[in-house]
Amino acid sequence: MIRETIVTTLAPSGAVHIAPIGLIEEPEGFVIAPFRPSQTLENLRANPHAVANYTDDVLIFAGCLTGRRDWPTRPAARVPGAVLDAALAHAELAVTHVSEHPERPRFHCKVVHEASHAPFRGFNRAQAAVVEAAILVSRLDLLPREKVEKEIAYLRIAVDKTAGPRERQAWDWLMERISAFRQKP
Ligand SMILES: Cc1cc2nc3c(=O)[nH]c(=O)nc-3n(C[C@H](O)[C@H](O)[C@H](O)COP(=O)(O)O)c2cc1C
Repeated sequence: MIRETIVTTLAPSGAVHIAPIGLIEEPEGFVIAPFRPSQTLENLRANPHAVANYTDDVLIFAGCLTGRRDWPTRPAARVPGAVLDAALAHAELAVTHVSEHPERPRFHCKVVHEASHAPFRGFNRAQAAVVEAAILVSRLDLLPREKVEKEIAYLRIAVDKTAGPRERQAWDWLMERISAFRQKP
């Protein structure tokens, strides 16, 4: 099972790095598998800790994919790391070992601390649609144009029917990014 989360890591300078990452569940914890090149990967090598932030604020997913990475955080409790203010809950992770791979090393992590901050208020189809669209945006270089357009047309139905203001803004940022990509020479 993969959980789509916002992973925060720390650079050697202490700067917080925020990235949407799909955490792979394992019996003993989670695997973080960043594709090279990746700031998250560099940070995990320097400071083998991370925070998995569970949030329904899809503006952060869309923001990170469109160059808006500055979201409020506070220090983590048990690891050198940062917790997103928008997290409904979070898990603090320590890397136990790394399975090396030329394109996608796997950082196996154990959970050293967990905390809940706000209630889960149910599924929203527009939020799921934004997460799917964010994944498409992260793969624009790799995917055929027709596939992206077909999937966006389908996902748009849920956004039109069920979005709130944050989901609408997130969707607009992603659509702007797709338009900008199409206009590149
Ligand atoms: C829902 C979602 C899940 C993602 N999961 C991964 C992942 O598991 N590994 C990865 O390398 N990138 C993943 N991405 C793409 C990264 O968020 C994006 O490339 C990011 O910039 C990572 O690179 P960075 O560590 O340099 O910031 C995901 C994107 C989204 C929207």
